[in-house]
Amino acid sequence: MQHAKVGIVGGGTMGNGIAHVMAQSGRSVTLLEMKPELLDRAKKTIEGNLARQVKKGALTEADAAATLGRITGTTDVAALADCSLVVEAIVENLDAKRSLFKNLDAVTAPSAILASNTSSISITKIAASTKRPGQVIGMHFMNPVPVMKLVEIIRGNDTSDATVAETVAVVKDLQKIPVEANDFPGFVSNRVLMPLINEAAFALMEGVATKEAIDEIMKLGMAHPMGPLTLADFIGLDVCLNIMEVLQHGFGDPRFRPCPLIRKLVDAGHLGRKTGRGFYTYGTGA
Ligand code: CAA
Repeated sequence: MQHAKVGIVGGGTMGNGIAHVMAQSGRSVTLLEMKPELLDRAKKTIEGNLARQVKKGALTEADAAATLGRITGTTDVAALADCSLVVEAIVENLDAKRSLFKNLDAVTAPSAILASNTSSISITKIAASTKRPGQVIGMHFMNPVPVMKLVEIIRGNDTSDATVAETVAVVKDLQKIPVEANDFPGFVSNRVLMPLINEAAFALMEGVATKEAIDEIMKLGMAHPMGPLTLADFIGLDVCLNIMEVLQHGFGDPRFRPCPLIRKLVDAGHLGRKTGRGFYTYGTGA
């Protein structure tokens, strides 16, 4: 198997999902987090999602246990030394990513591929913090990772053809579908999705319709599985705001200005499902 030892950095929503699917494909996964409590939380989430697959009959109990057994947690970046592929899924902050990639560049073998799951930050900028920009690539999974088929593959300015080919092969091995894009703000997925969500927030703010009506119109009228405001809560309003800011800054075009209502909700700490409140209010455990 190609890239049989994989490192994942960050055990949040995306990182634990990536660890889950990598381990399910038979790979040995080292999951790096900042604190043991965060590792415990990530493992519990993976366990819950595997149990869901077992309940649906998509996975046997033995396979679920074996998948979990292939994931080792660590708080020490040096534990990633023998991984030939590392996927970063930490906070969406360029400085944090550049400092992590510098460390990864120092601890991993020179041949290793360093991938970022960033939803909008420039792969070219991240790659420039390493001595191997040819082996730095965007590997953008979608939430929920165990369910969504797409992985957007982003080629930075210097990403080599060999790195793209190897990353595409791993994605196919995960039973997912890689689609390539070049490195421009928001790539394709978020350049198209976020203005939709942002415009739905403007429609709500301007009183065009209720939040339920906006979501229902987009769900029933466009056959979207979730309305844009529900989806924004699912993604996280802080993440949506952050991506709109990257688009606004990257293009310098007023059509990407973030909706003040999203900013206000973020300022209030209402970040969506993860905090129990965003456009909608959720029960505990949402
Ligand atoms: N782990 C494992 N399985 C999961 C899961 C998880 N975290 N979440 C859901 N599932 C499974 C369920 O078990 C179920 O399986 P079956 O089809 O075998 O029954 C299936 O997924 C559907 O789940 P539900 O029946 O519970 O709920 P649903 O039919 O309402 O679907 C959904 C839920 C898949 C999330 C669907 O609403 C959907 O596709 N929503 C849109 C998601 C989307 O747009 N994601 C992209 C967001 S953008 C992004 O991620 C990138 C970014 O940069 C911001």
